[in-house]
Amino acid sequence: MRQAGRHLPEYLELRAQAKDFLDFCYSPSMAAEATLQPIRRYDMDAAILFADILLILDAIGLDVRFEKGVGPIVETVNDESDLNRVPMEKAVQRLSPVYETVDRVRSKLDSNKALIGFCGAPWTVALYAIEGRGGTDKSTARSWAYTNADLMNKLLDLLIEASAQYLSEQVKAGADALMIFESWAEGLPSDLFQSLVVEPNARLVNRLREMDITVPIIGFPRGAATMLEAYTSQVAVNGVGLDTAINPAHVAGAVPNTMAVQGHLDPLLLIAGGDAMDARVRELLQAYSGRPHIFNLGHGVRPETPIAHVERVVELVREGAT
Ligand code: CP3
Repeated sequence: MRQAGRHLPEYLELRAQAKDFLDFCYSPSMAAEATLQPIRRYDMDAAILFADILLILDAIGLDVRFEKGVGPIVETVNDESDLNRVPMEKAVQRLSPVYETVDRVRSKLDSNKALIGFCGAPWTVALYAIEGRGGTDKSTARSWAYTNADLMNKLLDLLIEASAQYLSEQVKAGADALMIFESWAEGLPSDLFQSLVVEPNARLVNRLREMDITVPIIGFPRGAATMLEAYTSQVAVNGVGLDTAINPAHVAGAVPNTMAVQGHLDPLLLIAGGDAMDARVRELLQAYSGRPHIFNLGHGVRPETPIAHVERVVELVREGAT
């Protein structure tokens, strides 16, 4: 999950050497090292590529900055000409340092460990391009679906195609699985959940299959809540990332048994630790013991997370998995 490294001293040390966050992402040697750090420390079964969902906006020609204490700031799209700044082929090629990172990581990672490539889902990435930042009430982007639908659809179309090509290149470079982060799926009325989340994700997955990409794909519709089933029944993902608000009883009815579940320990409980954390980890392992389960958090690891608590979770998962 995003920003996982920030609780690790070795990550902070590496981060301090980079000019800025974008430079870090575009430096294959540093990004490969950041990808491998948590695997070295915790011996987890899969690594997630070090990059960011907003690189694609940089690639299509929008200015992206990461400001300390503020988060990402993106130049907003105002009209159709903003969508035609960089030809598709060039945009995909601009992300070649990421493919180089994948290649380096894959060659250094044990063959029994998976490397997960990723991108942001079209609506979540579009939201940054419309609102200029995350963490807003999403009203500007949501209004676009009603008042500026044509430009919204063109933006989604562009992101679907660019993301498909971007992910395809990651797989060619060695990614073993892909994850699509729909981090801002919450709070949408069901018709907009359908048109902004379900349909674009379904099209992205179908496009990847059309391009002969056969690796497993995990979708993460964060905040889907009661609409989780609409997502799992219409987006042909192999696994679904679950957020902290979903409980196993709901999952049983909303996610087909053949679909892997990934999640969903509360990152705040990982900070708290102790018996409550142990109990929840065991509960999740137990709840999903009869189906494919990738143990994970319901959202990103926070900087203040104690290393000992992550170690404890790894230990419990290993015990539970044997
Ligand atoms: O955990 C990892 O480091 C894996 C690589 C990764 C990053 N971002 C690196 C990153 C992944 C998978 C992401 C995904 C991402 N990025 C998402 C989707 C997942 C989620 O968390 O919902 C989103 C919404 C983003 C956008 C983003 N990037 C935000 C909101 C921020 C700033 C957050 C903050 O509080 O400052 C980032 C920055 C970012 N992306 C960092 C890292 C390691 C922190 C940069 C730093 O200061 O070192």
